[in-house]
Amino acid sequence: MSLLLNRSVFGDAANAGHVLTRAEADALFTDWVKNERLQLHMKQVAHLMKSWAAEKEGLNEADQWRWEMAGLLHDADWDQWPELHCKKIIEELESRNIDPEIIRAIASHGPNHFGVEPETRMDKMLYAFDELSGLTHAYSLMRPGGYEGMELKGIKKRFKEKGFAANVNREEILDAMERAGVELESIMQFIIEKQGEVRQSL
Ligand SMILES: [Fe+2]
Ligand SMILES: [Fe+2]
Repeated sequence: MSLLLNRSVFGDAANAGHVLTRAEADALFTDWVKNERLQLHMKQVAHLMKSWAAEKEGLNEADQWRWEMAGLLHDADWDQWPELHCKKIIEELESRNIDPEIIRAIASHGPNHFGVEPETRMDKMLYAFDELSGLTHAYSLMRPGGYEGMELKGIKKRFKEKGFAANVNREEILDAMERAGVELESIMQFIIEKQGEVRQSL
C-alpha cells in the first residue's frame, strides 16, 4: 500500500491565516477519530507543537494555534481511512480553505511515507515530535508513575532497545532530528516535561 501523495503544493496561498476555530477543530477531531489511543496521541503532539511554538520559537498566539492545529489533525484520517492517510485530511482542509502552511506540515509529517519533504519550522518539528512522542508514551505506560519522575536516561535506554515499541522507527527519528537541527536528547527532555500534562478528555 503506497501512501505517496505525488504532489508538492498544498492549499492556496490566498488562504494564509485562515484557520479552523477551536470548536471546528474539535468537531472534526471527534467526528473522524474514535480510537481513544489515537486521540490521545494527536492531543499529545498538538500540545508539544503549541508548547514548542510558544517557548522555543517565540511565536504569537495565532501562530501557536496554527502549530497546535497541525499537531491535532495530523493523523485525523488514520482511524477510519488508513489507506487514505494523509490524503483525506489534506483534501478536507483544502476544501475548507485552510492556511496552506498547516496543510503542508500535515502532508510532510512522514517524508518516507508521503514523499513530501519537511521545509518550514512547523513541518520539521511535527516530523520530529511524532514518533518520539509515541515512544515516550509507550514508556510512560510501563512505568508505575507514568510521566511522573520520568528521566532522560530511561527514555534513552528504551530508544536503544530495538525490541521496545518495535514499530517506532529509530532511523526516522534520527533523520527528523537532523532535518530540524535539534538534539535528540533535548527533544526527549522537552517531551518528558510536556507530555504528561495532556489528558484524554478534551
Ligand atoms: Fe501519521
Ligand atoms: Fe502521528
